[in-house]
Amino acid sequence: MRGKVDVVLGCFFGDEGKGKINDLISETADVSMRCTGGNNAGHTVVVNGKKFAFHLLPSGIVNPKIMAIVANGVVINPEVMIEEMKMLTDSNISIEGRLAISDKAHLIMPYHVAMDKALEELRGEKRKIGTTNRGIGPTYSDKAQRDGIRMETFVSDNFEEAARDGYKRTNIFLKANGFPELEVEESIQKYKEYAKVIKPFVTDTVTLIHKLLDEGKHFVCEGAQATLLDLDFGTYPYVTSSNASIGGVCTGSGVSPKDFGEIYGVIKAHSSKVGEGPYVTEDLTEVGDLIREIAHEYGVTTGRPRRCGWLDLVALKYAARINGLTAIAINHLDTVGKLEKIKLCVGYEYNGTVVTDYSTNVDFLKNCKPVYEEFEGNYGDISKISKREDLPENAKKYLTRIEEFVNVPIKFIGTGADRENRIIC
Ligand code: IMO
Ligand code: MG
Repeated sequence: MRGKVDVVLGCFFGDEGKGKINDLISETADVSMRCTGGNNAGHTVVVNGKKFAFHLLPSGIVNPKIMAIVANGVVINPEVMIEEMKMLTDSNISIEGRLAISDKAHLIMPYHVAMDKALEELRGEKRKIGTTNRGIGPTYSDKAQRDGIRMETFVSDNFEEAARDGYKRTNIFLKANGFPELEVEESIQKYKEYAKVIKPFVTDTVTLIHKLLDEGKHFVCEGAQATLLDLDFGTYPYVTSSNASIGGVCTGSGVSPKDFGEIYGVIKAHSSKVGEGPYVTEDLTEVGDLIREIAHEYGVTTGRPRRCGWLDLVALKYAARINGLTAIAINHLDTVGKLEKIKLCVGYEYNGTVVTDYSTNVDFLKNCKPVYEEFEGNYGDISKISKREDLPENAKKYLTRIEEFVNVPIKFIGTGADRENRIIC
């Protein structure tokens, strides 16, 4: 029988703890795949007390039985890729024969990173996006503009010429806008060395993926970023430059919707955001600060303190619709359980009426006030609980209300930082 692709997607602004559910599915999956984004992502998995922070490789790769695929929709910084390979081999986790990188994935060059920073500076305080400064936007721009460098070119003799063209274009722009020009020769030589390391892994992943599916293999697609950061369906322009929702899985890998299995939407029992843009359920009081400290809401990628607040069911319903979610994975139930009172957003007050349909229009969102229902916290230690029915009544009420509102069952509950702190429903 043909295999299937379980998909793990973030529902809000990223950092929902996708690594944790991905890790769980990886226990029974054969293949772990990334389809979108680049090293703007930060996915942490804790295995036997050891923390692995991935930005680029699918985090399922920590499991030595898994085949890892970096598919065509991903943008690749080879330096980061090589560091992550080393992080694994340093921990005696061999990647030999179990990593495939798409020949169509695009290369992040140092000039993309420089361009990312320059563009943010030019946008100024008022218009800045708060990007991760990893060159993501400019790399996807070059791809759409047809000036990008695919992996197949990176590992070929044509790389040098393509790279020189890119530097030339970027330096004209930088100079015209008063930024220092970039050094070219040394970077190109360094990148040619990286290409040698990467080359053995570069392959036609579309053919590989379908061959593996034909063999009945079970995939987990590790989403990066999240629905409200999606280029089309997020809070534009405060978004990333790829389709982080379900469509990006198809265009980013060559898998068709027919091959989808479970589609997990990952959320936290609270919420967070990094970067600029509207965030209706942000809590700017000391409670927001408390959530940040309890949940250690500081970026894995940039170290930035995250904005914190409450779970937003209006936005979750939107994410459920767009992605066709079949299951919800909720993390950090232990975090809200440490609070006295928990707020849950069930509507937006806009112009004197209450709305329950999300719209990504930034002006609309800026003028929305959250309508909250309040739940009791103080769950005590729930980290060792393994069955949903054994959770405190207050926690059960909270979870049931979420399911009721979005009409999607919760199938995974995260109850602590460690791999074991979870409930499978
Ligand atoms: P994971 O996969 C949280 C945010 C950035 C910024 C915006 C655009 O860990 O959930 P970019 O560098 O992509 O051009 O930045 O998107 N952003 C993320 N926020 N988690 C992520 O990934 C993110 N990837 C991008 O902070 O606001
Ligand atoms: Mg992140």
